[in-house]
Amino acid sequence: MHMDRLERNYLIAVSVMLGIFFAALVAGALVFGVRLPSTAEFVNPLALNETEFASPGLRDMGEGQYEAYFLAAMWRFQLGTGEFDETGHEVMRVPVGSRVTFNITSRDISHGMIIEGMNVNLQLLPGHVARQAVTFNRTGEFHVQCHEYCGRDHANMFFTIIVEEPAEAAA
Ligand code: CUA
Repeated sequence: MHMDRLERNYLIAVSVMLGIFFAALVAGALVFGVRLPSTAEFVNPLALNETEFASPGLRDMGEGQYEAYFLAAMWRFQLGTGEFDETGHEVMRVPVGSRVTFNITSRDISHGMIIEGMNVNLQLLPGHVARQAVTFNRTGEFHVQCHEYCGRDHANMFFTIIVEEPAEAAA
């Protein structure tokens, strides 16, 4: 079969590129463990009372490790920390250097969560547990906002993370 030289070269180039992309995909998944950041686990949104989400809160696992079980619902985050700021939104406090694994699900509809200034952007869906570990390396106040339009009070759906010196945290 006659094939134009240029056409053949292009076909070879395209095949090689596709091969490289496919190899990168396989290597990313198998060697580097790249996974989509969310929906690590499923949970029955109608039976949250039978799960870890029955009592939302920040669990101190020792050695600077924390597990956060938070809920998103119209139109607030339920952190279970029992501390509120002057606007009535909940506050989460951790000592600087803490590594917090967030486990979050939604009680009702689709919500989102971004932590300002951090590389955290989760979609919160009923039935799915969004999970991400974050190390808080500097002190300060971090604004956390729902970024998935969820209705009337969407803009008001936020909370604050306060990262402080260990001495302050203990006080
Ligand atoms: Cu929840 Cu927007």
